[in-house]
Amino acid sequence: MTTGAIVIVGGSRGIGRAAARKLSLDGHNVILTATTEAAATSVATGIANETRHPMTGMQLDVLDPASIHRFAERLPHPVRSVIVGAVHWPEGRQPQMTDTGLERTFAVNVFGAFRLMQAMTPHLIASAKTLGEVRVTLVSSRLHLPGRFGMGPRFDWTDIDLSRRFRPMTAYCNSKLAMIWLAREAERRLRSHGVRVNALCPGFVPMAVAERSGLRRQVFMRLLSYMPFATSLDQAAAAYAWAATDPSLAGAGGQFLADFGESLSSEESKDTDSAERLWNWCRDCDEILPSHRP
Ligand SMILES: NC(=O)c1ccc[n+]([C@@H]2O[C@H](COP(=O)([O-])OP(=O)(O)OC[C@H]3O[C@@H](n4cnc5c(N)ncnc54)[C@H](OP(=O)(O)O)[C@@H]3O)[C@@H](O)[C@H]2O)c1
Repeated sequence: MTTGAIVIVGGSRGIGRAAARKLSLDGHNVILTATTEAAATSVATGIANETRHPMTGMQLDVLDPASIHRFAERLPHPVRSVIVGAVHWPEGRQPQMTDTGLERTFAVNVFGAFRLMQAMTPHLIASAKTLGEVRVTLVSSRLHLPGRFGMGPRFDWTDIDLSRRFRPMTAYCNSKLAMIWLAREAERRLRSHGVRVNALCPGFVPMAVAERSGLRRQVFMRLLSYMPFATSLDQAAAAYAWAATDPSLAGAGGQFLADFGESLSSEESKDTDSAERLWNWCRDCDEILPSHRP
């Protein structure tokens, strides 16, 4: 049994839920989040009934500053590890805008993660004082690499959320590149406080995609799950659990993790100026948009 809770942000479905279940079976004290209170409670209760280990579900919508604030305030002390895997999967040719005027992929996957990090920082630092070190893992993807399958990011600083020239796959790839920048910048800012931050690619998991897809795509994803490049839900859950808890990662920060080790990330993702620029952009945006401060 370990000390300190492990938080899985985006734990109501897919890889997050499978990881919450695995970590609970391994004896950890796990908190999972869902965007609604009802889903958080029902998923946590479902896993607890199955594993016979207590599990906490907490409501968290990273698009809602009040929800982020409430969540950060209610976190137990200490927290040992946080995985931030909340994701919006963009579809269609039109950008989906949030109330605050940001394109939804960027708003959830990047800006939401930034706001959450900011809100949790005092808590993480306090936890690191108690435990010696706290680990944060921002979930990224190998799709941040350029030119893979003709895709890849095209980050445009004049149109950061792609709301002007929207392309769903580019929006997703950009958000996963941005997660590596956020991880590296957070690591730079927090490491002296004992908070270590990495980015992780859990692998391509067709069965997680199938879970949220229509029938036709479900069949396609089930077929893809037999391909050699596919990762099973169990393997991806094990990757989350490894990133959250493995002793070999003690002291590691600013890394891009994949396949249970440090992996090559793009040259663009290593650019420290871009990492700082994105952080400052999010900070400025946070000051302009509705605040979570009471
Ligand atoms: N699946 C893959 O093949 C794959 C490959 C590489 C990387 N990844 C990354 O792995 C992570 C998990 O992927 P997945 O396929 O397991 O995702 P998923 O099944 O779609 O689950 C997404 C999670 O994000 C939560 N979420 C969505 N909007 C949110 C918001 N506004 N605030 C807070 N939480 C929100 C969802 O909560 P609700 O249920 O309440 O909506 C859900 O728990 C993602 O970061 C993804 O980019 C996935």
